[in-house]
Amino acid sequence: MSKRDFLSTADLTRPQLDDLLDLASRAKGKRLTQGLAGKTLGMMFFQPSLRTRVSFETAMVQLGGHCINLSSHDLYELEPEEQAVMDGRAEEHVIDAARTLSRYVDALGVRAVSRTGTWERDRQELLLRSYAQHSSVPVINLETCFEHPCQAIADAMTMREHLPQLAGKKLTLLWCNHPEPKSLGPTHSILRVAALLGMHVTLAHPLGFEVDGEVLEHAGTLARAADGSVEVENDLATACSGAEVLYARSWGCTKYWDDPEREAMVKRSLQDWKVDEQLMQKTANALLMHPLPVRRNVAATDAVLDGPRSVIYDQAENRVHVQKAILMQLLQ
Ligand code: CP
Repeated sequence: MSKRDFLSTADLTRPQLDDLLDLASRAKGKRLTQGLAGKTLGMMFFQPSLRTRVSFETAMVQLGGHCINLSSHDLYELEPEEQAVMDGRAEEHVIDAARTLSRYVDALGVRAVSRTGTWERDRQELLLRSYAQHSSVPVINLETCFEHPCQAIADAMTMREHLPQLAGKKLTLLWCNHPEPKSLGPTHSILRVAALLGMHVTLAHPLGFEVDGEVLEHAGTLARAADGSVEVENDLATACSGAEVLYARSWGCTKYWDDPEREAMVKRSLQDWKVDEQLMQKTANALLMHPLPVRRNVAATDAVLDGPRSVIYDQAENRVHVQKAILMQLLQ
């Protein structure tokens, strides 16, 4: 039997999503000990993480297993390109790292968010996909610049806990400002998951911050099949009007992906793309979501992040329960 990976929301069907959400809900609050006794999850973080790392470690411990974490400091520089002539900086090919690690651990997680060139190159998630191809154990996407599927499942779980039903609800995915160039992973993943759930999604961003065309088209197809919709709006106030969920997150400009200084210059004139109380008042008493980390008083004000409609820590908590569901499905 071929192994199962957890790489992308593109692979998820509605029944699979429902199964994951139901399992995560059952796991919440319960100590499902021993389910993964003796199992090891190896995680490689090529960039920092607070939530993803700690929630996966906690999930494994609660299930009776354990984790080994490696950061870029612990690893040789890796070559992901097939048939590369390795006379450059990379000391080890992903082929050898993945095959070796597969002899030690029961599953592998990879976070690889870095910008390494153009958007056309980075959207291919070369490092993650290379690990998936060459590992004989399941591989989990812990965030790339293209997808953050574990985050999106936790986001869906959080919405489901706070709203009686999600189909037909208006979700505004709002670009907000950030001094650093950010990945499109969380945005792409929640866009597809919300579409799958039949929500009416408004993707709100300034001109120049369009998401990947293929993801947008796919989300539209998923939404139509579920009686939902996906639209793009470039006016901040219009986008937020009537929203029942306001999901704020910054993401990078794919046009200037390999030119972060140019992106920073464009963002200087976009400081009004921030969630504050005035913007929240335009919504239909929306839940405020953000996957964290958040730049307080740049992306969203203290007042709204700490306000009564904010569910940002529920999202963070639900990462643990969703990780348990993912791990149980892949490893049991
Ligand atoms: N949301 C999220 O993935 O957080 P971390 O970067 O801290 O893992």
